[in-house]
Order: sequence, then C-alpha cells, then structure tokens
Amino acid sequence: MNILGINQIPGMLSWMHDSSSALVKNGKIVAIAEEERFNRVRHHRGYPHKSHAYCLKEGGISLNDVDYIAVPYNPYAFLKHPNLRLESLARNVFNMFACWHYKQQMKKQANAEVVYISHHLTHAASAYYCSGYDKANILTIDGSGETESFAFFVGENEKIRRVWDIPIASFFSGGKWQSIGLIYTSVTSLLNLGVNGEGKTMGLASYGKPEYDFSDILNIRTHNDFTIDRRKLLEKYGHLQRKENGPITQEHKNLAASLQHALEKSVVNLAKEAFEYSGIKNFCLAGGVTLNCNTNSELLKQDFCDSIFIQPAANDGGIALGAALEQSERAGDPVGQKLENAYFGPGFDNKYIENVLSGAKVKYRRAKNIAQETAQLITQGKIVAWFQGRMEMGPRALGNRSILADPTREGIADSVNNSVKHREAWRPFAPSVAEEDASKYFQGVEKLKSSPFMLHTFFVRDEYQSKLPAITHVDGSSRIQTVRADQNEKYYNLIKEIENINGYAIVLNTSFNDKGEPIICTPQDALRCFFATGLDALAIGDFIVEK
Ligand SMILES: [Fe+2]
Repeated sequence: MNILGINQIPGMLSWMHDSSSALVKNGKIVAIAEEERFNRVRHHRGYPHKSHAYCLKEGGISLNDVDYIAVPYNPYAFLKHPNLRLESLARNVFNMFACWHYKQQMKKQANAEVVYISHHLTHAASAYYCSGYDKANILTIDGSGETESFAFFVGENEKIRRVWDIPIASFFSGGKWQSIGLIYTSVTSLLNLGVNGEGKTMGLASYGKPEYDFSDILNIRTHNDFTIDRRKLLEKYGHLQRKENGPITQEHKNLAASLQHALEKSVVNLAKEAFEYSGIKNFCLAGGVTLNCNTNSELLKQDFCDSIFIQPAANDGGIALGAALEQSERAGDPVGQKLENAYFGPGFDNKYIENVLSGAKVKYRRAKNIAQETAQLITQGKIVAWFQGRMEMGPRALGNRSILADPTREGIADSVNNSVKHREAWRPFAPSVAEEDASKYFQGVEKLKSSPFMLHTFFVRDEYQSKLPAITHVDGSSRIQTVRADQNEKYYNLIKEIENINGYAIVLNTSFNDKGEPIICTPQDALRCFFATGLDALAIGDFIVEK
C-alpha cells in the first residue's frame, strides 16, 4: 500500500511549522524530507509542495498510485477540550471545513482516501514504529498538538494505545496555556535567543546554576498534579529580559539553568509515572521538547529506564512520517522496524555532481579514496564540507550534509564559528565518533550502546577533555553521534581514516549551512554555501573542491 504523509493541507489555518512529506510503501519508509530544504525557508509553514513531489519521485509513483494521504491533524479534536476563545473556536471550525473539502477533492482528483490522525498520536507513531521495541512507554512532549502538549501512550505488538495527556487549555483551565514546550519558548524569548532558539537556551544552561524558583512555573509531579504557568514566568522573571544583542549575564545563564532543571525534573516525573503504570522500561520519545538532549540523558540515568529511542525528526518535521506509519498499520501493513539511519532525503550520483561542478566552471579533482583524502585535509586543520549520499531527515546533520573539522585542534571551534557558521561563540559543537570507540571517550554511553541521531549528551572522560577541546562543552558534556559502518559506510571510513592519522576516531560535525539558512540539500546549494563562507574544502561525492 502507498501512503503519503503530509503535515499540512492547502487552506488550513494551522500553527504547524516544519512542513514535511513522507512516503511509506507496504509499511517500509521510502522517503521523508522537510519542505525547508527545497524552498530554503527555515521551519516553513504551509503546504509542502516540493517535498511531496520529491517523495513521489523517490518512490517512482504518481499521486494516482497513492492509496491514502495521512495528515497529522485531527480537525475534531477541539470538541473534546473546547477552548472557548472566539479566535480559537473560529479557526477550528474553519479547519474542519477545509479538511472536509480536501478529503472530497482528493477522492475526486486522485482516488486517494484522506485520513486525519491526531498530532500527538503521529509523534508517538513516528517513534514507536521505528524503535524496534515490542513494548514501550511512548511520551510525546511539544509546544502544542490540537489540544495537548503532553501525551502518554503504550506501544505493544505494533499497536499504540493512548493512556493519558495534559490538555493545553480547556474550559476549566482558566485561560492558562498549559504547554511544556511553550514555557521553554517563553524563556528563550526572555533571553532573546531568537525564534526556534530553544537549542541555544539548552546550551546556555550549562553555564548557569539552577538558582531561580520554577516551582510555580513548570513543576509536573504527575499528569494530573502539575503547575505550568507562563504568566507566572513573566511576573517573576520578566525583569531579566535581555535586550537584542545585549550582553548575556550570569542571571541569564542561571535562568536558563533553572528552566532546564525544572524541565528535566518534570519529564523524569512523567516518565516514572508512565513506568509505574505499565511496568515497561523502554521509552520512545517524540515532540519538539525531546530534541532536548540533556533531558533525554537525565531520563536515561534513571533506574526505571533501560533504553530510549528517539527518531531524528522528533520535532514536527517527523509527524508526516508518523501519520503515514500509523495509517499503514491501520491498513494492515507491517510497520514495525528499527530505524538504523536518517538518510531518507534526496541523493545525487557522481554523474549529476560532476555536471554541476563543470557547469559552474569550478576547479575540482576526483579522489581515489574520498574518505582518505578528506581525512588528510581535516587533520591538516582544514574546515571541510562533506556532501555525500542521501540527505538526513530531522534538524541534525548526521554525516551526509555536514561541516567537519579536527576536534583535537585548539582554536578550531572558533575558526568554524567565525569563518563559516557565524554563530555565538559560547555554543558547543558536537562530535561524530565510531560506535565501538564511544565509551573510550565518553561516560555513560554503555547503557544506550549507540546514539546515532545526536539526541543525548554524555560527559567527556576527564583524560580526554583537554585533548578534545572543540567538542567539550563548558560543563564537560558533549552531544555525540555514534557511527557504524552498516549505518553510513563512507562516513565511518572517514572517521577511521582520521584515527589512522591522529589517533582519534572522532570528528567535529556541524550542519552544512550558514547562519539562518536550512541545511544544504542539493549540490547547487553546496557550491553556493562553500563559496559564500570560509570553508576550505568541499568533499562532494567522489570529488574535492579546494579554495
Ligand atoms: Fe508537535
């Protein structure tokens, strides 16, 4: 069965960002990509025209071959937790008609059945059906679904059952917007770290101490005994508002640390409650909040947690995939699979790449062994863009659209920041490490065994902190990606070639893009970014371009 997931339909008035499309064929994932990679608008909102076209092309089908179009939005959900604000009510009623109209239209145009599935269920499906677990607690945590910001499901024998949730607002919540994700967003706004700057807030938290009281702002004991109150945040700490481009003070760092502490405590409590209900020690996590690596690692430390699975597009970029998988399961296709890698976006062969390079009149050479020659450049201190294979899904570059450097070099992080990425100097860089060597450099990896999607932090062992300065954060932590040959052979070979030269099976890995733009998608994007920034070399397919 061919099932296309899209996370936005034409004409819908929705809050959804990170539009994306996914194609699942007979239960297997064929393609998934965010619209921003094609139209170059970060976190694009609106219908994902280009990613939709890409998914059909990758699957070798047309819209007429699609059996179901799965949309991660339930237009009737608001009837369960009605929000009586006029604006909200009007939007929900409008969307109900837009969804009904789209369903009729697709039936006529393509004979495809449109199905609507609730936002948090699709987050849950995107995690559980890719986890390889038979049984798991599934926690979904974000800014907002249709009516909730947290939900707990149990996954068992390829079926997902909703157990409880926390509504964002209801007739009884007194107008409070009870969203876990939006509390994090509000502190990010207070700190003036930019739209979608939540990752920066997490990075800043490592510089502070949790000295501020968040007990009446974000304090979740259980799913029905909690305080989530954004208004209190502004009342108590509004005076700490940082001016745009103003200095970051110790108070700002402490505020970030206090929020991070409150979030970790709340998520651990919710997870413990889930475990006490189900007795299951596997956890699947999804929703934008679960990109918070420090919280994930805090959960991993708990006795009641044996293992955690988070797919790389845990934010709204992954709900099109979740919708397609959930509908596949409903249609009877076998969907349970272990997602081993994130490479479901567009790929380009050497012939295509060489045409682009020669068409752009760029001087290039073909490498005999691209991994070996790139390793030589990196260990010489060059900053190299690495463009290989199919593009990653999700917000992290995982070794196919990456900028790489030697993390053992003093000052390399500043060079990457100043000449290429143009981001704040205090933000940490992450490493990719050969999976079998991860526990040599990092503490605590053993429990998880692998961290292929860069969604956990671990502490760099004391003896390596001064040897790996570029990837050791101020508190000694590091957000690692482990790599195996069967996940990404070329990238793994590169890491091992680096080890052959400098003795460390590890490379600094940051996304291939400049500040403010989405991760590179095509060879044309790669060339533009290469020449617009201070990158030293571009390893693209089997070709090397140097400045
Ligand atoms: Fe979400």
